[in-house]
Amino acid sequence: MKKTIVAFVLLVLPALSLASEEGYPLQRAPLDLHNKASLQKGAKLFVNYCMGCHSLEHQRYNRLARDIGLTDEQVKQNLIFTGAKVGELMKNAMPKADAKQWFGVPPPDLTLIARSRGVDYLFTYLQTFYLDPTRPFGVNNAVFPNAGMPHVLWELQGWQKPVYEVHKAKGKDSPETKVLKGFELVQPGSMSPPEFREAMADLVGFLSYAGEPGQLDRQRIGIWVVLFLALASVIFYLLKKEYWKDVH
Ligand code: HEC
Repeated sequence: MKKTIVAFVLLVLPALSLASEEGYPLQRAPLDLHNKASLQKGAKLFVNYCMGCHSLEHQRYNRLARDIGLTDEQVKQNLIFTGAKVGELMKNAMPKADAKQWFGVPPPDLTLIARSRGVDYLFTYLQTFYLDPTRPFGVNNAVFPNAGMPHVLWELQGWQKPVYEVHKAKGKDSPETKVLKGFELVQPGSMSPPEFREAMADLVGFLSYAGEPGQLDRQRIGIWVVLFLALASVIFYLLKKEYWKDVH
Protein backbone atom coordinates (compact mmCIF):
# COMPACT_ATOMS: atom_id res chain seq x y z
CA MET A 1 0.00 0.00 0.00
CA LYS A 2 2.75 2.35 0.99
CA LYS A 3 4.46 1.60 -2.29
CA THR A 4 1.31 2.45 -4.22
CA ILE A 5 1.08 5.80 -2.49
CA VAL A 6 4.71 6.58 -3.22
CA ALA A 7 4.23 5.56 -6.84
CA PHE A 8 1.16 7.76 -7.04
CA VAL A 9 2.99 10.76 -5.66
CA LEU A 10 5.98 10.23 -7.95
CA LEU A 11 4.06 9.55 -11.12
CA VAL A 12 0.88 11.51 -10.90
CA LEU A 13 1.83 14.68 -9.08
CA PRO A 14 4.33 15.95 -11.65
CA ALA A 15 1.73 15.31 -14.36
CA LEU A 16 -0.83 17.33 -12.42
CA SER A 17 1.54 20.23 -11.96
CA LEU A 18 2.31 20.19 -15.69
CA ALA A 19 -1.34 20.17 -16.56
CA SER A 20 -2.09 23.11 -14.33
CA GLU A 21 0.68 25.22 -15.79
CA GLU A 22 -0.70 28.08 -17.82
CA GLY A 23 0.48 29.01 -21.25
CA TYR A 24 0.77 27.85 -24.80
CA PRO A 25 2.15 24.30 -25.13
CA LEU A 26 5.68 24.00 -26.49
CA GLN A 27 6.29 21.93 -29.59
CA ARG A 28 9.08 19.41 -29.59
CA ALA A 29 11.88 20.52 -31.87
CA PRO A 30 12.83 17.66 -34.21
CA LEU A 31 16.59 18.22 -34.26
CA ASP A 32 19.30 16.22 -35.95
CA LEU A 33 22.66 17.79 -35.22
CA HIS A 34 24.50 15.22 -37.33
CA ASN A 35 22.74 16.50 -40.41
CA LYS A 36 25.26 18.97 -41.86
CA ALA A 37 22.89 20.09 -44.62
CA SER A 38 20.34 21.07 -41.97
CA LEU A 39 22.96 22.98 -39.94
CA GLN A 40 24.07 24.80 -43.10
CA LYS A 41 20.48 25.79 -43.91
CA GLY A 42 20.05 26.97 -40.33
CA ALA A 43 23.22 29.06 -40.51
CA LYS A 44 22.04 30.64 -43.74
CA LEU A 45 18.66 31.53 -42.24
CA PHE A 46 20.43 32.99 -39.22
CA VAL A 47 22.74 35.32 -41.14
CA ASN A 48 19.96 36.36 -43.51
CA TYR A 49 17.11 36.92 -41.09
CA CYS A 50 18.50 37.30 -37.58
CA MET A 51 21.98 38.75 -37.67
CA GLY A 52 20.76 42.21 -38.64
CA CYS A 53 19.71 42.51 -35.01
CA HIS A 54 21.26 39.60 -33.08
CA SER A 55 24.91 38.56 -32.77
CA LEU A 56 26.57 35.25 -31.91
CA GLU A 57 29.41 36.85 -30.03
CA HIS A 58 31.21 33.69 -29.02
CA GLN A 59 31.19 32.04 -32.40
CA ARG A 60 33.90 32.50 -35.03
CA TYR A 61 33.08 32.12 -38.71
CA ASN A 62 35.96 29.72 -39.37
CA ARG A 63 35.03 27.43 -36.50
CA LEU A 64 31.48 27.46 -37.83
CA ALA A 65 32.77 26.58 -41.31
CA ARG A 66 34.72 23.60 -40.03
CA ASP A 67 31.94 22.32 -37.80
CA ILE A 68 29.12 22.44 -40.33
CA GLY A 69 31.17 21.15 -43.24
CA LEU A 70 31.89 24.29 -45.28
CA THR A 71 35.17 25.73 -46.52
CA ASP A 72 36.30 29.19 -45.39
CA GLU A 73 35.72 30.33 -48.95
CA GLN A 74 32.10 29.11 -48.95
CA VAL A 75 31.49 30.90 -45.67
CA LYS A 76 32.96 34.11 -47.08
CA GLN A 77 30.76 33.88 -50.17
CA ASN A 78 27.52 32.85 -48.52
CA LEU A 79 27.44 33.76 -44.87
CA ILE A 80 29.42 36.96 -44.34
CA PHE A 81 27.59 40.15 -45.25
CA THR A 82 29.20 42.43 -42.71
CA GLY A 83 32.67 42.61 -44.27
CA ALA A 84 34.07 40.62 -41.35
CA LYS A 85 37.11 38.39 -41.82
CA VAL A 86 36.61 34.65 -41.59
CA GLY A 87 38.53 34.41 -38.30
CA GLU A 88 36.37 37.02 -36.58
CA LEU A 89 33.50 36.58 -34.16
CA MET A 90 29.93 36.72 -35.48
CA LYS A 91 29.15 40.20 -34.20
CA ASN A 92 26.78 42.58 -35.85
CA ALA A 93 27.05 46.28 -36.40
CA MET A 94 23.94 47.46 -34.61
CA PRO A 95 24.74 49.94 -31.85
CA LYS A 96 23.13 48.79 -28.59
CA ALA A 97 21.84 52.24 -27.67
CA ASP A 98 20.03 52.66 -31.01
CA ALA A 99 18.62 49.17 -30.76
CA LYS A 100 17.17 49.95 -27.36
CA GLN A 101 15.50 53.02 -28.74
CA TRP A 102 14.08 51.18 -31.74
CA PHE A 103 12.77 48.13 -29.96
CA GLY A 104 12.47 49.14 -26.30
CA VAL A 105 14.86 46.29 -25.46
CA PRO A 106 18.11 45.61 -27.30
CA PRO A 107 18.03 42.28 -29.16
CA PRO A 108 19.99 39.82 -26.99
CA ASP A 109 23.07 37.95 -28.18
CA LEU A 110 21.84 34.51 -29.18
CA THR A 111 24.93 32.37 -28.51
CA LEU A 112 23.49 30.81 -25.38
CA ILE A 113 19.80 31.21 -26.03
CA ALA A 114 19.19 27.54 -26.87
CA ARG A 115 20.69 26.58 -23.53
CA SER A 116 18.96 29.23 -21.46
CA ARG A 117 15.48 28.86 -22.98
CA GLY A 118 15.54 25.36 -24.44
CA VAL A 119 15.17 24.25 -28.04
CA ASP A 120 11.45 23.47 -27.81
CA TYR A 121 10.80 27.02 -26.64
CA LEU A 122 12.77 28.46 -29.57
CA PHE A 123 11.06 26.18 -32.07
CA THR A 124 7.64 27.25 -30.80
CA TYR A 125 8.60 30.93 -30.41
CA LEU A 126 9.69 31.23 -34.04
CA GLN A 127 6.42 29.75 -35.33
CA THR A 128 3.95 31.58 -33.13
CA PHE A 129 4.13 35.24 -34.06
CA TYR A 130 0.54 36.32 -34.72
CA LEU A 131 -1.29 39.47 -35.77
CA ASP A 132 -2.13 41.78 -32.88
CA PRO A 133 -2.95 45.37 -33.80
CA THR A 134 -2.46 46.53 -30.21
CA ARG A 135 1.31 45.89 -30.35
CA PRO A 136 3.89 48.36 -31.74
CA PHE A 137 4.95 46.02 -34.58
CA GLY A 138 1.45 44.64 -35.12
CA VAL A 139 2.38 41.20 -33.81
CA ASN A 140 2.42 39.30 -30.57
CA ASN A 141 3.87 35.93 -29.66
CA ALA A 142 2.26 32.86 -28.09
CA VAL A 143 5.14 31.85 -25.81
CA PHE A 144 6.66 35.29 -25.22
CA PRO A 145 3.69 37.60 -24.67
CA ASN A 146 4.36 41.20 -25.71
CA ALA A 147 7.75 40.35 -27.20
CA GLY A 148 9.58 43.37 -28.55
CA MET A 149 10.67 41.52 -31.70
CA PRO A 150 8.88 42.05 -35.02
CA HIS A 151 7.73 39.06 -37.12
CA VAL A 152 10.93 39.00 -39.18
CA LEU A 153 10.08 35.76 -40.98
CA TRP A 154 6.74 36.95 -42.39
CA GLU A 155 7.95 36.61 -45.98
CA LEU A 156 8.53 32.91 -45.40
CA GLN A 157 5.68 32.06 -43.04
CA GLY A 158 3.06 34.61 -44.02
CA TRP A 159 0.70 36.14 -41.47
CA GLN A 160 -1.45 34.23 -39.05
CA LYS A 161 -4.21 35.29 -36.74
CA PRO A 162 -4.94 33.79 -33.34
CA VAL A 163 -7.74 31.32 -32.69
CA TYR A 164 -9.12 31.45 -29.15
CA GLU A 165 -11.25 29.14 -27.09
CA VAL A 166 -13.51 30.84 -24.61
CA HIS A 167 -13.76 29.28 -21.17
CA LYS A 168 -16.51 30.25 -18.83
CA ALA A 169 -16.48 29.14 -15.25
CA LYS A 170 -19.77 28.05 -13.66
CA GLY A 171 -21.93 30.80 -12.24
CA LYS A 172 -23.75 33.59 -14.05
CA ASP A 173 -21.38 36.46 -13.44
CA SER A 174 -18.10 34.62 -13.59
CA PRO A 175 -15.73 36.13 -16.11
CA GLU A 176 -14.85 34.52 -19.42
CA THR A 177 -11.25 33.67 -20.15
CA LYS A 178 -9.83 33.46 -23.62
CA VAL A 179 -7.26 30.74 -24.19
CA LEU A 180 -5.04 30.78 -27.27
CA LYS A 181 -5.64 27.50 -29.07
CA GLY A 182 -3.86 27.87 -32.39
CA PHE A 183 -3.62 29.94 -35.54
CA GLU A 184 -5.22 30.50 -38.88
CA LEU A 185 -3.00 31.46 -41.78
CA VAL A 186 -4.60 34.54 -43.29
CA GLN A 187 -1.86 35.34 -45.80
CA PRO A 188 0.48 32.58 -46.96
CA GLY A 189 4.21 33.19 -47.22
CA SER A 190 6.70 31.79 -49.72
CA MET A 191 6.92 28.52 -47.77
CA SER A 192 4.13 26.07 -47.05
CA PRO A 193 3.48 25.40 -43.33
CA PRO A 194 5.43 22.07 -43.37
CA GLU A 195 8.34 23.75 -45.20
CA PHE A 196 8.40 26.56 -42.67
CA ARG A 197 8.34 24.09 -39.80
CA GLU A 198 11.31 22.27 -41.26
CA ALA A 199 13.18 25.54 -41.82
CA MET A 200 12.61 26.45 -38.16
CA ALA A 201 13.97 23.04 -37.10
CA ASP A 202 17.11 23.84 -39.16
CA LEU A 203 17.42 27.26 -37.54
CA VAL A 204 16.91 25.96 -33.99
CA GLY A 205 19.37 23.13 -34.70
CA PHE A 206 21.90 25.72 -35.72
CA LEU A 207 21.28 27.78 -32.55
CA SER A 208 21.60 24.65 -30.45
CA TYR A 209 24.94 23.88 -32.09
CA ALA A 210 26.08 27.51 -31.63
CA GLY A 211 25.34 27.34 -27.90
CA GLU A 212 27.55 24.31 -27.50
CA PRO A 213 29.74 23.61 -30.55
CA GLY A 214 31.43 20.81 -28.64
CA GLN A 215 28.26 18.71 -28.64
CA LEU A 216 28.91 17.60 -32.22
CA ASP A 217 32.25 16.08 -31.17
CA ARG A 218 30.92 14.91 -27.84
CA GLN A 219 28.29 12.69 -29.41
CA ARG A 220 30.83 11.17 -31.77
CA ILE A 221 33.37 10.64 -29.00
CA GLY A 222 30.64 9.30 -26.71
CA ILE A 223 30.19 6.19 -28.84
CA TRP A 224 33.90 5.40 -28.60
CA VAL A 225 33.87 5.95 -24.84
CA VAL A 226 31.00 3.49 -24.44
CA LEU A 227 32.78 0.92 -26.63
CA PHE A 228 35.98 1.42 -24.64
CA LEU A 229 34.18 0.92 -21.33
CA ALA A 230 32.54 -2.25 -22.64
CA LEU A 231 35.87 -3.63 -23.75
CA ALA A 232 37.54 -2.60 -20.47
CA SER A 233 34.81 -4.41 -18.51
CA VAL A 234 35.55 -7.63 -20.35
CA ILE A 235 39.27 -7.30 -19.67
CA PHE A 236 38.74 -6.50 -15.98
CA TYR A 237 36.39 -9.44 -15.63
CA LEU A 238 38.97 -11.80 -17.13
CA LEU A 239 41.66 -10.30 -14.91
CA LYS A 240 39.53 -10.78 -11.81
CA LYS A 241 38.94 -14.41 -12.72
CA GLU A 242 42.65 -14.88 -13.20
CA TYR A 243 43.55 -13.35 -9.80
CA TRP A 244 40.94 -15.29 -7.83
CA LYS A 245 41.74 -18.60 -9.48
CA ASP A 246 44.42 -19.52 -6.90
CA VAL A 247 42.53 -18.16 -3.90
CA HIS A 248 39.59 -20.57 -4.14
C1 HEC B 1 14.52 43.69 -36.39
C2 HEC B 1 15.35 43.18 -35.34
C3 HEC B 1 15.28 41.70 -35.04
C4 HEC B 1 15.50 40.66 -35.91
C5 HEC B 1 15.84 40.74 -37.39
C6 HEC B 1 15.38 39.44 -35.14
N1 HEC B 1 15.11 39.75 -33.83
FE1 HEC B 1 14.97 38.41 -32.30
N2 HEC B 1 14.65 39.94 -31.00
C7 HEC B 1 14.61 41.27 -31.32
C8 HEC B 1 14.35 42.04 -30.12
C9 HEC B 1 14.22 43.56 -30.05
C10 HEC B 1 14.25 41.12 -29.07
C11 HEC B 1 13.98 41.42 -27.58
C12 HEC B 1 12.53 41.19 -27.34
C13 HEC B 1 12.10 41.46 -25.92
O1 HEC B 1 12.86 41.15 -24.99
O2 HEC B 1 10.97 41.96 -25.75
C14 HEC B 1 14.46 39.80 -29.64
C15 HEC B 1 14.43 38.63 -28.92
C16 HEC B 1 14.70 37.39 -29.44
C17 HEC B 1 14.75 36.17 -28.67
C18 HEC B 1 14.63 36.08 -27.17
C19 HEC B 1 13.32 35.56 -26.75
C20 HEC B 1 13.30 35.39 -25.27
O3 HEC B 1 12.54 34.55 -24.81
O4 HEC B 1 14.03 36.08 -24.54
C21 HEC B 1 15.02 35.17 -29.54
C22 HEC B 1 15.14 33.70 -29.24
C23 HEC B 1 15.12 35.76 -30.85
N3 HEC B 1 14.93 37.11 -30.75
C24 HEC B 1 15.39 35.02 -31.99
C25 HEC B 1 15.52 35.58 -33.24
C26 HEC B 1 15.79 34.81 -34.43
C27 HEC B 1 16.03 33.31 -34.46
C28 HEC B 1 15.79 35.68 -35.46
C29 HEC B 1 15.97 35.36 -36.94
C30 HEC B 1 14.94 34.54 -37.51
C31 HEC B 1 15.55 37.01 -34.92
N4 HEC B 1 15.38 36.90 -33.56
C32 HEC B 1 15.52 38.18 -35.67
C33 HEC B 1 14.79 41.82 -32.57
C34 HEC B 1 15.04 41.11 -33.73
